[in-house]
Amino acid sequence: MSQNPSVLHTVLDAVDIRALAEFYRRLLGLVYRPGDEPPGDPAPDDGDWLVLTRPDGTRTLAFQHVEHLERTTWPAPDVPMQLHLDLTVPDLAALEEHHARALALGARLLLDRSDDPDEPLYVYADPAGHPFCLFVAEPATEDLDHLVVDGRDLTVQRAGLADVPAIVGLLRDDPLGAEREVEDPEPYVAAFHRIDSDRSHLLVVVRDAGGEVVGTMQLTLLPGLSRSAATRLQAEGVRVSPSERGSGLGAAMFAWAHAWGHERGASLAQLTTDLSRADAHRFYERLGYVATHAGLKRPLD
Ligand SMILES: CC(C)(COP(=O)(O)OP(=O)(O)OC[C@H]1O[C@@H](n2cnc3c(N)ncnc32)[C@H](O)[C@@H]1OP(=O)(O)O)[C@@H](O)C(=O)NCCC(=O)NCCS
Repeated sequence: MSQNPSVLHTVLDAVDIRALAEFYRRLLGLVYRPGDEPPGDPAPDDGDWLVLTRPDGTRTLAFQHVEHLERTTWPAPDVPMQLHLDLTVPDLAALEEHHARALALGARLLLDRSDDPDEPLYVYADPAGHPFCLFVAEPATEDLDHLVVDGRDLTVQRAGLADVPAIVGLLRDDPLGAEREVEDPEPYVAAFHRIDSDRSHLLVVVRDAGGEVVGTMQLTLLPGLSRSAATRLQAEGVRVSPSERGSGLGAAMFAWAHAWGHERGASLAQLTTDLSRADAHRFYERLGYVATHAGLKRPLD
């Protein structure tokens, strides 16, 4: 069986979605998905869909505009509670697999929009009659920012599955990586899904104007109790393509990564680098990293 569907967020219907979103944003300490913030005057605030996330970007609640909403009379049974779950799967094959599972588990099909090329989707009633949706998630690739390095425009993106071969190519194109990486793509694809499904991780690719992957790094937010409950930003798998090295791209990637971590509450950045990488040590020291600790590793057999 492929990976189980995951809950993307819970969707609440409302006539005034801004008012409801504001209520939950304040009550739960959430933030708007970029682009969903209240528009400044005089722009109209007339969207029909808003999303709130945790500060780390994890989706939590969405709000769907409706013209009329009959208030639930709960606990009286006349008008029941109204909300629905959105469940996502990565591709069409998984959609069909989990469609069959949902029906087998007792879901009743309410809407079949599985032939929609943009968002193949089914809507069901769960056994208690609550509607829920199962659909193929939007492509995982997501523009995060633009960098100008040495006069060139580069795009910072959340890596998608299609980027995995290029990332592994960069990891391998290195004296240490050449020894460590395997030919079989399967473990990399499985690892990609584990990383991508956890919003504490961000696998980054940097693309040039032609769409080529010229840099990568994996960022992780590590919550902790020590250091007055500091959140750490951990960087791993940092690579700039050989043709781009020395252009300032590595420094620009780290400036971006530090800002990404800081915005999400990290107060300390940390990394390890092989003792043989003298150039990389110089690079990190220039970025303000200090070798205050010894990094120890051992294989787990
Ligand atoms: C380390 C790395 C990410 C830096 O990115 P970059 O785009 O080359 O970095 P910048 O242009 O911003 O800075 C250049 C500095 O990077 C360092 N550097 C490390 N490897 C380098 C390389 N092969 N070529 C050029 N600079 C390199 C040097 O300190 C250089 O400064 P210098 O002028 O004093 O030599 C990149 O060179 C790389 O991918 N190297 C190979 C893999 C590696 O060491 N990764 C880090 C593992 S923890």
